[in-house]
Amino acid sequence: MNAPTEAALATATLYERLGGRPGIEAIVEDIWNNHVSNPLIAKRYANSDPANVKRLVTEMCCAGFGGPETYTGKDMIAAHKGMNINDTEFVAVCDDVLKALDMHHVGKREKDEILCILYSLKGDVVYQ
Ligand code: HEM
Repeated sequence: MNAPTEAALATATLYERLGGRPGIEAIVEDIWNNHVSNPLIAKRYANSDPANVKRLVTEMCCAGFGGPETYTGKDMIAAHKGMNINDTEFVAVCDDVLKALDMHHVGKREKDEILCILYSLKGDVVYQ
């Protein structure tokens, strides 16, 4: 396949620019690996089913980034209810996401967009 033209990239959805579902799945795999090896937050995921969390996060990213998928998980308040997640943990999750994006050579434009999306959800995630 030829590389997409500049004009095509300018109008492509974030989903398309990340390589569609396979690209997002690969990134989510590394986000998970980063979380479970990050001492600031690893314990939070000790009782999680990795395949299930990865599936839900993949769905959420696909749907939120302009893909055809439907997110079947809980909303962000319900998903994090009772966890009392603090600011440090929130930043740790964002850092792990950015690290995974770097591992996949995702560009600055896409990283900026994703960071804005994550930050827009902060109020629903922390101190619930
Ligand atoms: C904007 C940032 C975040 C997003 C988009 C996000 C997204 C998600 C999603 C989609 C789920 C699955 C929901 C479901 O079970 O239906 C989930 C669960 C979870 N999240 Fe987050 N999350 C964020 C931040 C955090 C932070 C900062 C922590 C703390 C370390 C955290 C810890 C967890 C845990 C422990 C679960 C439950 C996993 C399980 O059910 O086993 N999340 N999150």
